[in-house]
Amino acid sequence: MTAQIPRIDPDRLLARLDAFAAIGATARGGVNRQALTEGDREARALLASLGQARGFLVEQDACANLFLRRAGTDAALPPLLLGSHLDTQPTGGRFDGALGVLAGFEVLEALEDAGVTSPRAVELAVWTNEEGSRFLPGCMGSQAFSAGEIPAGWTNILGADGARFGDELAATLGALSGVPFRPLGGPIAAYIELHIEQGPVLEREDIAIGTVTGIQGTRWLEAVLTGAAAHAGTTPPAYRRDPMAAAAAALHALAGVMAGDAAARLTVGRIHAEPGSINAVPERVAFTLDLRHPDAGALDAIEREVRAVVEAEAAKARCEAELRIVFDMAPAAFPPEMTALVEAAARDAGHAATRLVSGAFHDALFLARIAPSAMIFVPCRDGISHNEAEFVEPRFCIAGAETLLQATLSAQDVPRASS
Ligand code: GLV
Ligand code: MN
Ligand code: MN
Repeated sequence: MTAQIPRIDPDRLLARLDAFAAIGATARGGVNRQALTEGDREARALLASLGQARGFLVEQDACANLFLRRAGTDAALPPLLLGSHLDTQPTGGRFDGALGVLAGFEVLEALEDAGVTSPRAVELAVWTNEEGSRFLPGCMGSQAFSAGEIPAGWTNILGADGARFGDELAATLGALSGVPFRPLGGPIAAYIELHIEQGPVLEREDIAIGTVTGIQGTRWLEAVLTGAAAHAGTTPPAYRRDPMAAAAAALHALAGVMAGDAAARLTVGRIHAEPGSINAVPERVAFTLDLRHPDAGALDAIEREVRAVVEAEAAKARCEAELRIVFDMAPAAFPPEMTALVEAAARDAGHAATRLVSGAFHDALFLARIAPSAMIFVPCRDGISHNEAEFVEPRFCIAGAETLLQATLSAQDVPRASS
């Protein structure tokens, strides 16, 4: 069969986005499809069945990463990998992760529809637990893939809902019982991920495509302050060892850590008191810290300052403080030739592009450790993400998929045959 020029089918892509947004849909228009939940399993099963229906090889690995492979003509060549994630934040949006996966699937289908043959296989990967909001750390699937193994200790990690990672992983693998296993990791030629920007820059500048030059570093800490539980009515402040008072003072002081460095980010997104009674001074207060900076040294300096502040406030309240790193991703720079490839792909697809650094972390950070990697961003409304109101205009979803298709073609010398 003579190959046609492959084209993105906008209606098919937009319908798929709707179909997947229905899995875990929230009343406020968002999606709650957290990693390794029933919803996550349902989304994987749907994608697996769509892939099988198109004749792609569908496989999973021990970390529940899911792969859809469109074969190349030379099985000895490592594949070109596209990918993103299907898990969401607890009150997440319809596009964070899903757009990259479904546009990747659309690329596979466009190649298939056009009868294009390529030397290398093109593979779509769905990475497990990118978000990290249910099970810590984030990017578990891509991290395990890039390391070639699941780090010891993950099995017994408890989720925010008390579920055990090992149990939920086993249930998720079992839910796709007909899908064969493949070893974790393996050589890949290159990795390309499409994602929404999750910030305001592209929309403000009305540019359809962001070519991502790198990703800023992220470090997550958990701080645990321990004091003494006491009766709320009978224990005067002077006799208390109140970890909540220490935490409140520390959170206030931490705002100062950020002052003076416009590139630094510090977020406390979760706080938990035990025993959690309205009329008891808590014994323990735990809170998370999300620290980000494009410079690895600056991130270290912020961490040192955070530790000093929390320990000092704990000491003032006669409490103990313990801070441990639960997730650490050094900043990454993508190879300039991969950024140039995306830029050329956007141009070939007829879309304006600009360069930017990603403020959010992505699975591409881990893939960049083992293969030349690139990311394509598209604008989202008001830069809103990790929010049920997250929205991407259809024209930008399509522009992203078209750029991903072009990048796929040029990344592996697919003949641009005409009919
Ligand atoms: C990714 O979800 C991030 O928090 O950057
Ligand atoms: Mn994401
Ligand atoms: Mn996210």
